Amino acid sequence: MNASNASNAVSAANTAIPASAPVLELADVTLTYPDGDRRLTALDAVSLSVPAGELLALTGPSGSGKSSLLAVAGTLAAPDRGRVAVEGVDVAALGDAGRSRVRRERIGFVFQQANLLESLTALDQLLLVAHLSGQRPRAVRARALDLLDQVGLAGKAGRRPHKLSGGERQRVGIARALMGRPAVLLVDEPTSALDHERGRSVVALLRALTHEHGVATVMVTHDRDQLDLVDREVALQDGRLAAARTAAVEAAAGPDGRAAAPVGGIG
Ligand SMILES: Nc1ncnc2c1ncn2[C@@H]1O[C@H](COP(=O)(O)OP(=O)(O)O)[C@@H](O)[C@H]1O
Ligand SMILES: [Mg+2]
Repeated sequence: MNASNASNAVSAANTAIPASAPVLELADVTLTYPDGDRRLTALDAVSLSVPAGELLALTGPSGSGKSSLLAVAGTLAAPDRGRVAVEGVDVAALGDAGRSRVRRERIGFVFQQANLLESLTALDQLLLVAHLSGQRPRAVRARALDLLDQVGLAGKAGRRPHKLSGGERQRVGIARALMGRPAVLLVDEPTSALDHERGRSVVALLRALTHEHGVATVMVTHDRDQLDLVDREVALQDGRLAAARTAAVEAAAGPDGRAAAPVGGIG
């Protein structure tokens, strides 16, 4: 019963995703860091495609390369080998200025902590990023208010961060990341500072916004209780992509999900 409900939910989610070229594509990406007189391999020949409108969960133990993958996908780190393409554009072929532009205009970031400015209201947090990226002031205010409404903060646009809960601050961070209409949303453990229920509601919000705005979202999480809300899971182990797993596979493996779990562990 549970299994068939879960696979129905998955196929419904899949039909909502338009078949399209991947918005984010990593092909055979290897990333190393200096480590004494050797190099530490953080990502080892990772290939991954994320289409528009997909919420992808990136899981794996601590140190497995999850944040490194987000850094490469977000053009914050250049891989030693392999190709990263955003909307079909090979970011290595762009100069520094071109990469900054892609990062600013096509990629949204949400981190563990919302990193809001204490002196600004929720609305002004959104207006500031739009101002910095040169968006037109009139359209910007309407969009900011609309996004705050979409994240459930319509009545709290005038509040400063200390008058918002942890979950609400994350919602402001998510709205802020969507201000510039990104094609890709990169989210690193958005719920690690939240209790279970607030964490789930933030992931449910990310799911709804990903589908509605048609962004390609990669969300790092270590909370297995949230995985029923995502479209697909990929797991990293020692810098390698271990397996792709869907809710349907998980349901088929039984309630504890262990049979299909290639990677356990907490990120
Ligand atoms: N800036 C860095 N310099 C050197 N090593 C790093 C750096 N960032 C991460 N690492 C190492 O790379 C590996 C992957 O790290 P990371 O991507 O942060 O993993 P995760 O997010 O899954 O915990 C780890 O062994 C970590 O210690
Ligand atoms: Mg990390």
